[in-house]
Order: sequence, then C-alpha cells, then structure tokens
Amino acid sequence: MTTLEYDRAFIWHPYASIKDPPPVRLAVSASGTELTLDTGAKLVDAVSSWWCVAHGHNRPEIVEAIRRQSEKLCHVMFGGFTHSPAVELAQRLAAIAPKGLDRVFFADSGSISVEVACKMAVQFHASSGHPERNKIVALKGGYHGDTSLCMAISDPDGMHTLFRGVMTKQFFAEKPACGFGADWDPSDASSLERVVSEHSGEIAAVICEPVFQAANAMNFYSPHYLREMRRICDEHGALLIFDEIAAGFYRTGPRWAHERSGVSPDIMTVGKALTGGHITLAAALASRRVAETISNGRPGAFMHGPTYMANPLACAAAIASLDIFEKTDYSANVARIEREFREGLAPLASLPNVRDVRVLGAAGVVEVERMPSRADIDRAIDAHGVWLRPFGNFIYSMPPLVSDSATIRRIVSAIADLAHAEPGPEPEDSDFHE
Ligand SMILES: Cc1ncc(COP(=O)(O)O)c(C=O)c1O
Repeated sequence: MTTLEYDRAFIWHPYASIKDPPPVRLAVSASGTELTLDTGAKLVDAVSSWWCVAHGHNRPEIVEAIRRQSEKLCHVMFGGFTHSPAVELAQRLAAIAPKGLDRVFFADSGSISVEVACKMAVQFHASSGHPERNKIVALKGGYHGDTSLCMAISDPDGMHTLFRGVMTKQFFAEKPACGFGADWDPSDASSLERVVSEHSGEIAAVICEPVFQAANAMNFYSPHYLREMRRICDEHGALLIFDEIAAGFYRTGPRWAHERSGVSPDIMTVGKALTGGHITLAAALASRRVAETISNGRPGAFMHGPTYMANPLACAAAIASLDIFEKTDYSANVARIEREFREGLAPLASLPNVRDVRVLGAAGVVEVERMPSRADIDRAIDAHGVWLRPFGNFIYSMPPLVSDSATIRRIVSAIADLAHAEPGPEPEDSDFHE
C-alpha cells in the first residue's frame, strides 16, 4: 500500500468519512506561504492551515527556538514543575493582553482553552456562593471548538446537532446582524439583553468571537455589539469571555479583534497563531479578580490539568512567534491585504451564484448560493496552485499575514474561478463545516 492508500483506508481526517473520504494531498514540506506536495507541485496556503500559520510556514526563527529548547527540555509535567519558557511566555502574553488579564492557564488546543475559560466562569460563581450560575450564553452562528462544552456553545443549528444528546443545554442569543462598519442599530443586542436578563440567576458568562464569527458564519459584525455585551454582563453580574482564537493576532486588523470596541473581557482565549502555526498551544487569560475569587472559594484549586499543559517546545515556539509579531508591522500588511481582497473580490458580487462578498483585515469571503462541485474545487486548486478549503456556502481565504501582493492576486484568481463555476449538487450535511 502506498502512503496515500493506507491513509485513505485507515486514517480519519477532519470532518470526513473514513469509508468514502474526499481526496487528500500528500504534503512533504512547506516554506513561507507555500506547501510542497509529493508530486513536486506547490500550493499557496490560502487558509494558512486553518488560520494559524501567520508568519508563513517553517519560519527559521521558530524552528530554531523549538530545536534549541528540544536540546534542553522537551516536556515535563506542569503539576509540580515549572520552566522558563512557560514563565517568559506568561509574562509576554500579559504584556500584550487587555489590561489586567495577567493570570494565565496554558492549554493544548483552542477547544481546551475555551473549556477552561467556561469552567473558570462557573467556578468563579460557585466560589462567590452562586453554584446555580453555571450556564453560558453564546451567540447563534458562533464556533468555539469540537469538545463537548465547546459544541454546546457553538451554533445550535450548526455542525454538531447529532451530538445534542451529550451536550448540556446552554443559552443562545441571535446572531449579530449589524455588519462591521454599518451604523450601529441598538436593537441588534436586544436578543442578548433579553436572554441574559431572563436567566441571569443561572448565567456564569457570556462568550463570543469578537467582531468575526468565523468557522460557522464568516460574519463580520459591529464592535458596538461588544460594548453592549459588556454593559449587559456588568448589569447582570455575568463574566464576559472573548474567544480571540481565530480573530486574534491581527487577523482583522488590530492585534485583538475586540480592540475596536474599547471594552475588555474578564477572560480571553488565544490559540492558533500563538505559535505561528508551528505546534499546538493555546491559553486562557483571566483577570486577577476571576483568579482570586476562584482561589478564595472551595476547593480553591482550579480543577483542570492537561498532560501536555505548557509544553516547553510549544512555549518556546510561542515566544519566538511573539518576537516576530513584535518586530513586524502586521497592521500595515493586513491593511494592504484587506485593500487587495476588496479590490479583487468586489467585482464577483454581481455573479449569479454569488450572494455576498465581504472582507475584513486578512479575511476575504465570497458567499455563494450553492457551492461548486468537488471536481470544480479540485480543478481550481490545481490550476491556480492555491489551496482553498471552502465550506458551507463560503469560498474564502485567510492567508498567512506575510502574503505579498502577487500571492494575494493568485488567491483572488482562484476564488474568482470558483465564483464563476456552475453551482454544484445539493450539499450533504458533511459539507457544512470548515
Ligand atoms: C474561535 C475559535 N475558537 C476555538 C476554536 C477551536 O480551536 P482548536 O481547533 O485549536 O481546538 C476555533 C477553531 O477553529 C475557533 O475558530
């Protein structure tokens, strides 16, 4: 059996059947914005490998940081031990996080950091004498990961409906409708206000992906919404969690997507681009008030502890990644990418199969009436040498933040090709996720 044959027969891929899986490509190496396949073909990674490869693939500084750390300490359990990469990374994150979010819990994936953030909110209220405040309010159209609490707070009509039986019931407010840059419509937050005020005695926290609902909706919404969210949380004693895993680290322009709102959360999650997409790591950052309230209650200990918590190789990679974020003017890069996406994608809006074109920062989205066929998608990928991973009704790109103008032009051509293609067959359920 060849590598690809074995893979096809025995290995699950994300959101795929193992009996009749869609084709996969065999990646052998990567550098900058490009992946190299076993055939020698090169593909521009227009989704930065699910939005994490911010500085380009195999950045020498990050590879070197992992190599150097690997010679000293690859791993040690974080229960009973610490190490300098964890301490340095915690300090560096606190320095760039919203003011006051300087208590750090390292997690091994974005989903786990979201679970941790929600558990912190629940334990905060339990420690304050309100164990009945143990529910989370989330937004329709949101996505926070695939583990069980994350599924329970992601879009209730999205990709996880099959698992309703194992999910605990949480509360949902309507998807924000006031678009980014549109005049603020105060009625947009009325659903959230209603849900929180009706159930405030049960609510531990409100969570959202600030400004950019990514994996379920590709929805850019008004930062005003976040101000209302902060006000509503404060009025009802709920904590506010911003999940910056997808939108953080300059994806929408500023370092944190919520910066434009002028308000801060009580807990924030980061992941994906934290290590520049070199190795898995995420974190939940909490305020002193949250951390101390948990610690002052019973049992005092915060009850979570993954085996690979604060893995030293991942922390070293993240420190090197933060160095690159610090010395690179990503705001300028992202502003240019946004301009180029706007200019390149806007003309597609008039095509018959195109419902909407929207761009924010280094994220360009063409929403279609119906997705082209799998064969057309593969043809466009190979013809343009651009890796796209459309899902649901969205043909989109979130490229590495270092992508130059020529790379963006190639990505735009590949997206335009697909926007012109014939609509494909009726979608199957499995087409409705990232
Ligand atoms: C906003 C958001 N939160 C959480 C997650 C889950 O992160 P991970 O896939 O690392 O578990 C994702 C992944 O796409 C995400 O976009």
